[in-house]
Amino acid sequence: MLRTETLSTSPNLPTPPMLSGGLPYIGHAIEFYRDPERFFRRGYQAHGNVFGIKLLGQPMAILVGPQEQSFFFKQTDKQLDMEKPYGFLAAIFGKIAFLGSHDTYQLHRPVLHSLFGREQMAGYLPVMSRVVGTWVDGLGERGEMELTHEMAELVKEVAGRCFLGDEVHERLEAAGFWEQYDALSASLDPLLYKLPLPKFIRRDAAKKKIRAILQPLIEERRRQPVADGFQHLLDQPDGGGQPLPDDIIASFFAALMFAGHETTAGQAAWSILHLIENPDYRMGVLEEIDRVLGKAAEVNHVHLRELALVNAAVQETGRLRPSAETLLREVKEDIELSGYRIPAGWFVMTSTAAAHFIPEYFADPYRYDPARFSERKEGAGFELITFGGGLHKCTGMNFARIEMSIILALLFRQYDLELVTPFEKIGVDRGGSSRPTRTLVRYMRK
Ligand code: HEM
Repeated sequence: MLRTETLSTSPNLPTPPMLSGGLPYIGHAIEFYRDPERFFRRGYQAHGNVFGIKLLGQPMAILVGPQEQSFFFKQTDKQLDMEKPYGFLAAIFGKIAFLGSHDTYQLHRPVLHSLFGREQMAGYLPVMSRVVGTWVDGLGERGEMELTHEMAELVKEVAGRCFLGDEVHERLEAAGFWEQYDALSASLDPLLYKLPLPKFIRRDAAKKKIRAILQPLIEERRRQPVADGFQHLLDQPDGGGQPLPDDIIASFFAALMFAGHETTAGQAAWSILHLIENPDYRMGVLEEIDRVLGKAAEVNHVHLRELALVNAAVQETGRLRPSAETLLREVKEDIELSGYRIPAGWFVMTSTAAAHFIPEYFADPYRYDPARFSERKEGAGFELITFGGGLHKCTGMNFARIEMSIILALLFRQYDLELVTPFEKIGVDRGGSSRPTRTLVRYMRK
C-alpha cells in the first residue's frame, strides 16, 4: 500500500476503520482496561497500520509501524498536541513542560534538558553506582526478596540522590515525601481522572502536602544556596532567562521523581526476571560482567560502554516490557495518513504492544533475544518506541539505561538468582506504569 503523510487533506478519504466490539458511549473501554495488549494486537491484525477505537466517547486512531510512528513523533506540537490527552498527568503534576501549552513547553524545556547535560550525567554515574552497590552489599549471604517492591525502593533512592542530592533526599524522606508521592503514583488513570473517586481525593491532598514539604526547603535554599541537584533546578534559567517560580519548582520535583522512578522501576524488575529466565543468554552476560568489571568498586563510563550484552538485555526488556505502553496526541488540524483522513478533535495513539511485535521488523518477536540489538541491529528506526521519538523523546533515556545496566551488572556479579514465583504466573500490574506483579526471587551470594 502506498502511504502518504500530509496535512492538506482531501475530504473524500475515509476515516480509519473502527475496530469491532465498541459499545454505546463507553466504546472499547472495557476491553482496553481488561487486556490492552490483546486489544491492540487484535486491532492491528484486523486492520493493519491505522485503525480507530473509541474510549468514553473520544475517537482515537491507533498508529502502528515505523512510518505511522515516525509521523506521530515528527509533527509539531501545534499539529499534534499533548496538553489535552495528558490531562490525567497534569491533574497530578500541574501544567508543566509538555503537560502545559506549547509555549509552556518551550519555556520549561531548557530546564529539563539542563538536568541531563554531559556534566550532570557524569555526576550521576558515581551516585548510581554507590546507591546500587550499597543495596547489593546489604542483601546478605542469601534470602528471598519481592523484586517489584525492591526495585521500586531502589530506584526511588537513585532518583532522589541523583536529582536532589543526599541532604535534600534524606530530609524529604524524613518529612514523608515518598508516602505522599505514592498517593500521586496510585492516582494514574487516563480515563477517569476527573471523577471524585477516593484515589483522586487522596491525590489532591498529597499535592498540597508535597508543596508544604518543599516550600520551606525552597525558601531556605533561596536564602542560602548549597551546590547540589536541588539547587541546580532552583537556579536554572527557563527559556525566558528567569528562574522557575516556587510553585512550578515544587511541581517539577514531583514530576521528575515520577519520571525517574515510576518508569524505570518496572523495567528494571523485568530485566532481572528475563535474565533469570534465560540461562543461555545469562551465561554470556555473567562472563562479560566478570571480564569487564572484575572486582571494581565503581561502574564507570568505560565499563558501561563495554557491557554490550548487558546493555542489549536492557534494550530487549524495553521492547518486550516497556513502561510507557501507549503515547497520545490530539489532532489539531485534519491529517491524511496511509490513505485515511484523521479529523481534528480525534486523538492519535501509539501502542508498543502492537508495534514491538511486528515480525517484519523484529524476528520471532515474542522471543527474548537481546542479540537482535547487539548483533542484528533490529529496530534502528522508528520501529522501536520504548522511549518515544522526535522532539519529546525521553530526556531521561540515557539515565534510565545506565541505571538499569548498573543494577544488572552489580546484582548478577555477586549473586546467583532463581525465581520462586514461576515466570508464567507473573502478570502485568498497570496500577501505575506497567510493572511485574508481586514476584519472589531467591538469591545466594556466589
Ligand atoms: C525505562 C525508563 C523510561 C521509559 C520507558 C521512558 C519513556 C518515555 C517516553 C515514551 C517518553 C515520550 C512521551 C511522549 O512522546 O508522549 C518520555 C518522555 C520523557 N521522559 Fe522518560 N522514560 C523513562 C525514564 C525516564 C527518566 C529516568 C527520566 C528522568 C528523570 C525521564 C524523563 C522524561 C521526560 C522529562 C520526558 C519528556 C520529554 C519532552 O517532552 O521533551 N524518563 N519518556
